[in-house]
Amino acid sequence: MSTQAPIPAPAPVTPSPPSKNPTEIDLGNIQGDILSGLPKKTETFYFFQIIHPVHFKRDLRQLIPLIKTVADVGKDRKKIQDYKDRVKHHPEENLPPLIHLAGVNIALSHLAFEEIGIDDSKLDDPAFTNGQLKDSESLKDKGTGTGPTFVPDWEEPFKKPIHGVIIVTGDCHPTVDKTVQQIENIFDVNGSSPSISLVTSIRGDVRPGDLSAHEHFGYLDGVSNPAVIGFDKDPAPGPKPVPAGKILLGHDGDANRDKREPWMVDGSFLVFRYLFQKVPEFDDFVERSSGRLVRPGLDKKEAADLLGARLVGRWKSGAPIDITPFHDNPHLAENPQRNNDFSFSAEINVQKLCPFASHVRRTMPRDDIPEDQVEAHRILRRGIQFGPEVTKQEKRTKTTMHGRGLLFACYQSSISDGFRFIQTRWSNNVRFPPGETTPETPGLDPIIGQGTPADRKMSGFNPDKPSDELAFDDLWVVPRGGEYFFSPSIEGLKDIIAA
Ligand code: HEM
Repeated sequence: MSTQAPIPAPAPVTPSPPSKNPTEIDLGNIQGDILSGLPKKTETFYFFQIIHPVHFKRDLRQLIPLIKTVADVGKDRKKIQDYKDRVKHHPEENLPPLIHLAGVNIALSHLAFEEIGIDDSKLDDPAFTNGQLKDSESLKDKGTGTGPTFVPDWEEPFKKPIHGVIIVTGDCHPTVDKTVQQIENIFDVNGSSPSISLVTSIRGDVRPGDLSAHEHFGYLDGVSNPAVIGFDKDPAPGPKPVPAGKILLGHDGDANRDKREPWMVDGSFLVFRYLFQKVPEFDDFVERSSGRLVRPGLDKKEAADLLGARLVGRWKSGAPIDITPFHDNPHLAENPQRNNDFSFSAEINVQKLCPFASHVRRTMPRDDIPEDQVEAHRILRRGIQFGPEVTKQEKRTKTTMHGRGLLFACYQSSISDGFRFIQTRWSNNVRFPPGETTPETPGLDPIIGQGTPADRKMSGFNPDKPSDELAFDDLWVVPRGGEYFFSPSIEGLKDIIAA
């Protein structure tokens, strides 16, 4: 805590209508993680509280030059490519394999806007205003009590007020640590006049070697993200690109576009979820249950791979089971022209190819529901893994002994329509999609679906008998914290938040 006398918070800022052209995407004004994803091998999420609003604004002005915009990320990606080419073509130079590059972004919670006296009411998202802690019961996170007395089983830091998160990415730990140090100096975190204090800092790392783009259950992640109109110039075949306003505030497609104040335009809501994965238990379940998939020519390992793919909706390689339902096809998985080009349209009312409950079909139902209803709930995912690889002892005992999982992060122009809708109305909903006419209940999303023990099952796991049900005997993804943030534009940061 600061020992200085409190300085009154500035008067609330007066709104005025958006002045920008809502079809234009200003790459220099948008924080880089939103549309491009900051390049990363490792990433630190630095959660903080503001302890001195006026000094925070002053210090924030020094942080802004470090923030990577979408335009900066474009330049960094070019540098990375040029460097890779040099390493490849000039082995005699003995260069380290990766170029040292860091990325910094910042996002603030509703509590921060209260703290610094900025009226954020036109952000107009109840989930954002209430914060994730209050939302955790509706998300069906495990916890004790009900209603106002509900306390989720979260890590302690996430039960405290969190005002913001600074995201620092890089090629290696020293690059990121050095940048975090620089940021701590800017805010004088360890000095005599700090403007913020650290609540908790969490490090994520991509997995080693060939598993680098795979999440901890082993499945390739980050395959399907919406193409954004006006930004992605040459979208690959697949779901329809989304208007920029589904991700960025104040653009065409943002349901509240006309209400936004200028400083909100080009910003986006960031959802963070601290998701632990029980990998040995998941693997054990898939192996044990694979005996229920008896198909000619399928050995035990192949049956387990098929069952896992039916829980996720893609093979570990990333190949979608809607296109290649019974055998993995790594070539298809690697081909961006094909790996997202499916719509479940061949089986609106059946689950022979892909179960309704599978994670991919649940979180992006494609032709299962009308196109406009799909478009309303799209998000851009930017997560990273945390924790070590599964040890031999964990494998042998089939028990998790070390925390690992996904630092889930996603961007959208409405949390209520984006992350929150997907989690509560699709993944946690045993009767989704609503229009299907199969007699069986689809069941819960086996990966992230939360519900009562009685709800924890799905149909469609067996392609030959879609009405058979599979009960989940564990919860393999356990939410242990999170918060809702707003990632402002550079102008919003300079002209209003740090002004
Ligand atoms: C530990 C937790 C999670 C794991 C292991 C996981 C894993 C995966 C995998 C393997 C894919 C398929 C590859 C891809 O398209 O990128 C995927 C897709 C997806 N996930 Fe998750 N995910 C998790 C949490 C979440 C959460 C919390 C949400 C949102 C509520 C979510 C939403 C999505 C969406 C929207 C897609 C893309 C579906 C598509 O367009 O085909 N995931 N996830």
